[in-house]
Amino acid sequence: MSSLILSKQRLTPDIAMFEIEAPRIAKRWKAGQFVIVRPRDDSERVPLTLVMSNAEHGSITLVVQAAGKTTKRMVAMEAGESLADMVGPLGEPASMHSGGTVLCAAGGVGVAEVLPVAGAFRAAGARVIAMCGARTDKLRILTEQLQLAADEVLWATDDGSIGFHGNVVQMMNQWPRPADLALVHVIGPIPMMRAGAEATRSWGVPTYASLNPIMIDGTGMCGGCRITVGDQVKFACVDGPEFDAHKVDFDELARRNKAYCQFEQMAQA
Ligand SMILES: Cc1cc2nc3c(=O)[nH]c(=O)nc-3n(C[C@H](O)[C@H](O)[C@H](O)COP(=O)(O)OP(=O)(O)OC[C@H]3O[C@@H](n4cnc5c(N)ncnc54)[C@H](O)[C@@H]3O)c2cc1C
Ligand code: FES
Repeated sequence: MSSLILSKQRLTPDIAMFEIEAPRIAKRWKAGQFVIVRPRDDSERVPLTLVMSNAEHGSITLVVQAAGKTTKRMVAMEAGESLADMVGPLGEPASMHSGGTVLCAAGGVGVAEVLPVAGAFRAAGARVIAMCGARTDKLRILTEQLQLAADEVLWATDDGSIGFHGNVVQMMNQWPRPADLALVHVIGPIPMMRAGAEATRSWGVPTYASLNPIMIDGTGMCGGCRITVGDQVKFACVDGPEFDAHKVDFDELARRNKAYCQFEQMAQA
């Protein structure tokens, strides 16, 4: 069923935030879940995280980074247009924890994806520190919403224009972590999640990563999102997208996500 775009806001030159009419999804979703969208009739299906909802409008919010052909097409869409179809909420909600401190670390468009998770941890009774990364001050997104969702927001910028000078994982490694740190949630590009997981392994703190494998059907049928966690094969669309970051085979995830690179470049040419 087509879904009307109620509003659109450009957050950076390549990231846009959409409010989309979706009353049934707005009622049912939980932090950590996602939808699969086809922006146009002839588009591929792309998974996108549910970031916020508005019960009064019967709407959900998606934040989209123009990464390839389909996301570029979506970022170019405007309020008043309709997405060809959208299915969700999909996947399992994020693992929650009450009490103690929870660190939510995010890079790039992952900052949008971590927003609902940070809010849910806080609502569950944890003290939430959000560590977010951007290339530069002007490319930071959702700063006000993060201030409301987390108890403390720490920014890292690659050029040092604001906050910590460096990336999120470098900031994590220099962070005077609190004694009551109970859980870490990481989301972002694969190298960032892998390095984040390595950092917390020596801390001995349970760490979950919200993974971003290529997805096709989103129902556990096609095998596109197959990953390995410890000695188990999992399907991120139905078993995840969040998994124990200390057990994820990030090499395999990176290899499988690059499998269609040549075709993705041809599609954009
Ligand atoms: C559960 C989940 C939630 C996500 N949430 C968001 C979100 O909220 N906002 C957002 O902007 N993006 C999100 N992504 C990533 C988004 O789905 C991909 O960027 C998109 O599928 C790329 O499609 P494309 O046709 O535009 O690019 P393509 O031309 O297919 O690929 C461009 C680049 O993106 C990579 N890529 C392709 N498909 C995926 C995929 N399914 N996941 C990750 N990387 C991919 C390719 O390796 C390539 O480097 C999420 C991914 C998952 C699995
Ligand atoms: S997307 Fe097809 S099995 Fe997960």
